[in-house]
Parts: sequence; C-alpha cells; structure tokens
Amino acid sequence: MKTPISFLKEIDFSKEELMELIDLSLRFKELKKKRIPHKYLEGLNIALIFEKTSTRTRSAFTVAGQDLGMNVTYLGADEIQLGRKESVADTAKVLGSMFDGIEYRGFKQEDAETLARYSGVPVWNGLTDTWHPTQMIADFMTLKEIFGSLDGLHIAYVGDGRNNVAHSLLVTAAILGVNITIIAPALLQPEEDIVTLAKEHDNGAVIEITDRIEAVKGADMLYTDVWLSMGETVDFKERIDLLLPYQINAELLAKTGKADTVVMHCLPAFHDCKTEIGLNIYEKYGLAELEITDDIFQKHSSLIFQEAENRLHSIKAIMYYSLKEL
Ligand code: CP
Ligand code: NVA
Repeated sequence: MKTPISFLKEIDFSKEELMELIDLSLRFKELKKKRIPHKYLEGLNIALIFEKTSTRTRSAFTVAGQDLGMNVTYLGADEIQLGRKESVADTAKVLGSMFDGIEYRGFKQEDAETLARYSGVPVWNGLTDTWHPTQMIADFMTLKEIFGSLDGLHIAYVGDGRNNVAHSLLVTAAILGVNITIIAPALLQPEEDIVTLAKEHDNGAVIEITDRIEAVKGADMLYTDVWLSMGETVDFKERIDLLLPYQINAELLAKTGKADTVVMHCLPAFHDCKTEIGLNIYEKYGLAELEITDDIFQKHSSLIFQEAENRLHSIKAIMYYSLKEL
C-alpha cells in the first residue's frame, strides 16, 4: 500500500512540490471562476476536526470538499471523544477506517503527526501551535498572482515572530527561495530550532531575524498576524507593550522606501473595535487597533481578502494532490 500524502508541515515538501501545489491552486481558481465543474473526488468522505475556532479554514475545507464532490463531516471540539475519552491514536484508527482524509486543527503538532501515523489516510494540518501550512499555499499563490513570479521577492513579517504563521512563513519562504526578514522583539523571535529548519531547507533565500523595524527597507510585502494566538495564556498587556512598536502603520510602511509595498494578513485581524475582543481591549488599554492600523488595513483590504479567498482554491489543490490516486 502506498504511503498516504499528508500535509502536516512545509519541510516535508520540496520547492518543486510546493510550486506544484501553488500552480494547481491557480488552476482550481480558474475552474471555479469559469464555473467549470470539477467533482474529481466524487463519493469520497472527509472529516474536519476543529479543536480551535475557525472561519476561513473550516469554510475552505467544506466548500473545497463539496466542489470536489466529496462528503464533508465537521467534528467539533466538544462533539467527539478525542482527548477526553479517547487517545489521538485510537481516534485516528477509527476515523481512518471510515474517512478517506482528515483535516485537523488543534494545539500540538505531535497530535497531527499521530493522526497521520495511525489513520492510514491523508491528514491535512489546518493549524497547530507550531505550523499553519495550508495558509502558506494561499499566501504564496497570492504573491504569485500579484507579482507574476516569486523570483527575487523580499518579504518581511512584522510582529509575533514565534507563532505558527511566522514559523510557516519563514520556512516556506526559505524552501521557495524567497528572501525573508522576521522582525520581532528579542523575546518574540522564532526559536533556534525553527530558524535551523529554515536554514537547512533554504534554496537560496536571504534569511534575516532582527528586532530592528528599519529592516523592512526594500520589502515587497509586509505580513503580520495577531499578537496573541489561539490557546496562548500570557498577559495581554505585556504582549501589547512588547509589540506596539511593531504595529503595521503608515510610518512603518513608509520605512520600506517603496511606494508599492503590499500588505498581507492571514486574518482575523484586530484593526478596529468592531469585535467583542477588540472592544474589550479598547476599554481596558485604550487601543483601537493592534497589529495593523485600520487605515492600512482598509487600503490593502482587497489583497487581504483575495488572500482569504485563496484559502479555498489552495486547500482544494492540497486535498486533490493527496487524494487524486484514489
Ligand atoms: N487564517 C485562518 O486560518 O483563519 P481561520 O482561523 O478563520 O481559519
Ligand atoms: N497565529 C494565529 C493564526 C490564526 C489564523 C493563531 O494561531 O491564533
């Protein structure tokens, strides 16, 4: 029996394989836009496990699965035995005997790997504390759409440099040979083992990790993410104090020295107080905007929402890539 093709983390894939996924995503986008049916995986069944909340990833897996002709079952955190009454390995064996593929969003990367090991079917990582690989296919697909090619690009991530999105961006850029600068305060820079992985898989990218915001100079794209990720329990005030100098605002954007630098965000974003948490932060700390100011968010929103839409096309490509042989 062939080993199932899971999508657990970027370092399991070569540059060529990641580029193939990006190009496949672009092709699926075209099919969708032209309303050309593509039920290539008719009759298969997939399960979506979400131990953390989600809008984009859940919607993308659901619609992508349905577009490919599959039956999609959502298994929410409080609805299955996983973790409380049943181990990850036992759950994997059960789900693997019924489903053809499993999406997993949770906490420990190890749990995603265990699911893959014991289920015998492809497992797609919909985000763990360590990596957010499906996000990366959408992000680099979006970059390819707007710049035409990834060659020679310089991207800079500004903010919490040790979260899943920062890790994934660093390692994926390295694999793809895209120059990347991670700009974060010393306490929030990627751990040494993540930087080592990026260097080991580097295909000619210039990699820089720094606390200097001036390092955005020359960047073609600035990327940021929330300052507190799902599941983190640290003091929010401490985080805000550390990260406020790293907010993407007009002044920081001007430091790129380029008029055409674009801004991306995986979403959700705290750019105003129109959320329960946003309002709470405003009332407690007097801050109406966190990682990105509302003016910059609005100015770059068409690209940011293009990036969000691309989650659908890229997740479709990832599932198709895994299941096409069935
Ligand atoms: N970017 C992203 O993963 O969004 P969701 O948390 O809404 O899935
Ligand atoms: N770093 C964020 C990403 C959300 C898509 C989190 O884990 O909450």
